[in-house]
Amino acid sequence: MIGLGNMGAAIAERLLDAGYALVVHNRSPEKAVALEPRGAIVAGTAEELAAQADVVLTSLADDDALESVAAKVLDAARPGTVLVDVSTVSPDASARVASRAEAAQVAYLRAPVSGNPGVVRAGNLTFIVSGAREALEKVEPVLLAIGPTVHHVGQEEQARVVKLAINLMIGLLAQSMSEALVLGEGSGVSRAALLEVMGSSAVGAPFVKYKTDALLRDDYSATFTMSLMEKDIDLALRAAEHAGVQLPLAEQLEGHLRAAIDAGYADDDFIALFQFLRQRVQLDQEVVP
Ligand SMILES: NC(=O)c1ccc[n+]([C@@H]2O[C@H](COP(=O)([O-])OP(=O)(O)OC[C@H]3O[C@@H](n4cnc5c(N)ncnc54)[C@H](OP(=O)(O)O)[C@@H]3O)[C@@H](O)[C@H]2O)c1
Repeated sequence: MIGLGNMGAAIAERLLDAGYALVVHNRSPEKAVALEPRGAIVAGTAEELAAQADVVLTSLADDDALESVAAKVLDAARPGTVLVDVSTVSPDASARVASRAEAAQVAYLRAPVSGNPGVVRAGNLTFIVSGAREALEKVEPVLLAIGPTVHHVGQEEQARVVKLAINLMIGLLAQSMSEALVLGEGSGVSRAALLEVMGSSAVGAPFVKYKTDALLRDDYSATFTMSLMEKDIDLALRAAEHAGVQLPLAEQLEGHLRAAIDAGYADDDFIALFQFLRQRVQLDQEVVP
């Protein structure tokens, strides 16, 4: 497992708990060392890890991180290795990794995930996979040890697009929830009451329920940062350009995310879109019970 950020660390813990012999590597070594007491073997470099693994999982921030780490992995991996990348990256960067993997005789699965670190720890992560079916059959037990749902959506970059489409919907849902809450609070409705009704109404999607407690506590510590959401909306817009289609709400959402980042919310959870909107309209706290 390479990349032990919020998601990668939670995935590594699931694999260790399932009894897999796990070698870990992270750019900042302390996150790898932290897993040693749980039985992980620490590799100093991506190459050192790839040389000894049959299956290499990567969970990395963005295109640049994936391309640079994949280059190292593919230089050192033995033919027949399977590289499974669970990051959210662009179809373009992923296609470049696919070409390199083919040259190295390494099977490459694009396996972006739907969920967050809490969902991983609860054993509920969903994988959206594209790539060769035979490679998926080989690694499916590993994926199922992490989460119960694996969707195979194509042979090439389809999984990247599906993931971006889902994140676009989640980003828009966060913005629309924030606007609904600002409207409610600004009109004297308590946040708790509005969230309760939202949760049991037709819009009571799992996402609304995941965010309810944090919103009630004004807790914006990140499960998925504002910066990463901005990255994903940017990727969705670039994919739309490539496909020759328009995403008018996505364009507006990107503007809101950038403004929130500029206002200091980059490392907060993206549901801090609510806090950002609230501060922007200078809501009178006294109105809210
Ligand atoms: N968090 C979520 O809820 C969630 C859900 C679904 C998908 N995702 C996706 O999963 C991926 C990881 O997300 P996360 O929340 O775990 O992010 P994160 O906590 O920021 O972790 C990012 C990881 O990438 C590594 N990294 C960044 N740049 C690198 C580089 N140039 N070279 C090598 N390693 C590099 C980081 O290493 P350092 O520790 O050294 O910085 C860290 O291990 C992202 O693509 C994200 O969009 C996240």
